[in-house]
Amino acid sequence: MLDIGQYLDEESIVFNRWNDFISRLDSSLNDQDRSKFQEALTNYQNTPWNFEYNQRWYDVLSQLEIDGVPLISYIWGLDRDQIEKTVPFILNHIQGSGLVLDVGAGTGHKTNFYGLKLEGKIIGLDVNEIMLKIANKKRRTNNVSYLRGSVFNLPFENDLFDSAIYTNSIQEDGFWSGGVYSLYGSYDERQSEKIKELARVVRPNGMLIIGHNGFDGFDEAVIQTMKDNRIKIKEHMSFNYSGYINDSTNHVTVGIKQD
Ligand SMILES: C[S@@+](CC[C@H](N)C(=O)[O-])C[C@H]1O[C@@H](n2cnc3c(N)ncnc32)[C@H](O)[C@@H]1O
Repeated sequence: MLDIGQYLDEESIVFNRWNDFISRLDSSLNDQDRSKFQEALTNYQNTPWNFEYNQRWYDVLSQLEIDGVPLISYIWGLDRDQIEKTVPFILNHIQGSGLVLDVGAGTGHKTNFYGLKLEGKIIGLDVNEIMLKIANKKRRTNNVSYLRGSVFNLPFENDLFDSAIYTNSIQEDGFWSGGVYSLYGSYDERQSEKIKELARVVRPNGMLIIGHNGFDGFDEAVIQTMKDNRIKIKEHMSFNYSGYINDSTNHVTVGIKQD
């Protein structure tokens, strides 16, 4: 059966470093596309948090291609080592779940793999319509479906899901104060709101899994907020991985919703 490494190869999600990616772009994109990319990148990197610029960045990455591969796949490739380490860990935990929610699913690069491995159903939710189109196109099994919506207001009743996953998306919607690559991210009210909303849709004894890179004690704040929302921590792992600029650490916390 297909493992995560083989799946990522098939999806052209191949490990690369940021500088290699940029030089590849320089030699492959035409002038018009390169300036579209550059504008989106500049806004994304240099602007104190701006939701619109961040979504625009995803739109451009999903619309431009090199050799038939959307740039977004190259971007996930920058994180390939993280994907290879965290996805099997998460899968292990959600294995018996009948209904799973993956919030911030993006292009479904993780969601579609979970779908391949799960007997139950999985719904991938994201705010970004263009990314969801790619997710749908790349869907491999019928137990996966996609829905547009926001983590702040999940379109589901209480206590619905056996498991909910929220990985590498908690940093979205604005905890950065100096542009997305600054390290001045801090935990604030908005992150708490999201965790509360995610906990709401998980059934009692169901599972909530949150993964993120974490800055400035962010890791402990996520765990504390999970606890504050009746989520008992079952397991917490920190994965060191080769990042696109430096090596990084991804934290994944698995919790169980109390009755
Ligand atoms: C860095 S990607 C993470 C993708 C994937 N979950 C992973 O672990 O690699 C963050 C995703 O969060 C989505 N997002 C941003 N704000 C959101 C919101 N308010 N509700 C739902 N999704 C959101 C973005 O569109 C993007 O697809």
